[in-house]
Amino acid sequence: MIVSCGLVFLATALPAFGFPHLASRQDTGVVIVAPPRPTNTGILPMPGSANPFVAPGANDLRGPCPGLNTLANHGFLPRNGVASFEDIVNAATHAFNMDYDLASALAAFGMLARGNAFIDKVSIGLPSDLVPPLPGQIDGPLARGLATHGRFEGDVSMTRQDAAIGDNRNFQPALYSQLLDLVSQFGDDSTVTGPRSIVNMKVMQEFKFKRFTDSQAADKQLQYHVGRLLLSYGESAFTLNFFANGTDGTLSVPTMTSFFRDQTFPANWNRRSAPGGLSLIGNDAVNVLAAHPVLPGANNANGVYVTDNTAIDTCALYSNLAGDNLPGVLLNTTGVLKQNVGFLLNTIHNLFSNCTVVVPHGPANV
Ligand code: HEM
Ligand SMILES: *[C@@H]1O[C@H](CO)[C@@H](O)[C@H](O)[C@H]1NC(C)=O
Ligand SMILES: *[C@@H]1O[C@H](CO)[C@@H](O)[C@H](O)[C@H]1NC(C)=O
Ligand SMILES: *[C@@H]1O[C@H](CO)[C@@H](O)[C@H](O)[C@H]1NC(C)=O
Repeated sequence: MIVSCGLVFLATALPAFGFPHLASRQDTGVVIVAPPRPTNTGILPMPGSANPFVAPGANDLRGPCPGLNTLANHGFLPRNGVASFEDIVNAATHAFNMDYDLASALAAFGMLARGNAFIDKVSIGLPSDLVPPLPGQIDGPLARGLATHGRFEGDVSMTRQDAAIGDNRNFQPALYSQLLDLVSQFGDDSTVTGPRSIVNMKVMQEFKFKRFTDSQAADKQLQYHVGRLLLSYGESAFTLNFFANGTDGTLSVPTMTSFFRDQTFPANWNRRSAPGGLSLIGNDAVNVLAAHPVLPGANNANGVYVTDNTAIDTCALYSNLAGDNLPGVLLNTTGVLKQNVGFLLNTIHNLFSNCTVVVPHGPANV
């Protein structure tokens, strides 16, 4: 009798008090706090026994970034694919040895561009009910996610199609096989994985140029302004530098396939032996680009590529992403949201500290 009374009480109490932390978060917000810098920044076997691969369930979100997808599949990020700024910084620095300032700037940009900076949540894939619109819907009525085209996700990806002409979120085997063809033509030899099975700079130089020429011809709506251009070359540098085995720094085809197609760490893999930061990634991105230079621009209505009058440099990347792409309404905020926006904008600028500060002035609800 006493037991059943207790159950009745619990059952009626649940609707009001079942998820108090969730309700209050959406009312009051969550103050974002920079996590501590990692102290161990050397080589380490990954993922380790505490982080096994579990295939995503039907409600788990995955998106265009093979790095974040892999982190979520191993529980370094929440397995449902909805992460905080702190989650992303901790996961990318720990499991891939991404430099703290680079990881922080990427996580900050992702949160401001496609997440909810009031409750400190971003979906790494499609929009999610767990990431409601900002208070007052100042950036539109839709929840969003990193897979949403524009601001961050863009054209001329390696293994995802341009949004205007195909699937910009899921791994595309047809694009990946173009990359594998180039490895078999231009790759380095390995005693373990065979002749021409090691991905190198030359492979990326040829692949990125092919991806650009193919997208330019096929996608009338191609947008390749300086922020996206450098980010996309940076992503090819991520592949060479973060997916390589940290023991010898080489990236074999089986290892690359493990990350891109299977979204899991290969067996006996080690993270890089020193943090990878902006100068490493920037230098390699410029190196990939230098073989076949492409200028920033966009296709016009006739499918003709019209270049921008913009220099290709780090500060132009910063200004395009943080200034042009982020919505100006982020400055018209108060309280916890204003505090978080200020923190995240400073975090981005911290990576580009020699560049003139820009403030968001892009359109809302795009
Ligand atoms: C060390 C960790 C990371 C690695 C190794 C990594 C790797 C990559 C690679 C290789 C791509 C290109 C995919 C392709 O073109 O086929 C990519 C795309 C992407 N990454 Fe990451 N990433 C990492 C961290 C992050 C972080 C911290 C964020 C932001 C929160 C992020 C967001 C994205 C997004 C939105 C894309 C899609 C861009 C596009 O191609 O349109 N990534 N990432
Ligand atoms: C990484 O390198 C070490 C040392 O050569 C090797 O034992 C291991 O199998 C390699 N792992 C992968 C995934 O290639
Ligand atoms: C600022 O936000 C308030 C409340 O959301 C809105 O009424 C106002 O029009 C906004 N002002 C600007 C300049 O965006
Ligand atoms: C800032 O530094 C980067 C490289 O570290 C360089 O490319 C850029 O031109 C510098 N910008 C300014 C305004 O000094």
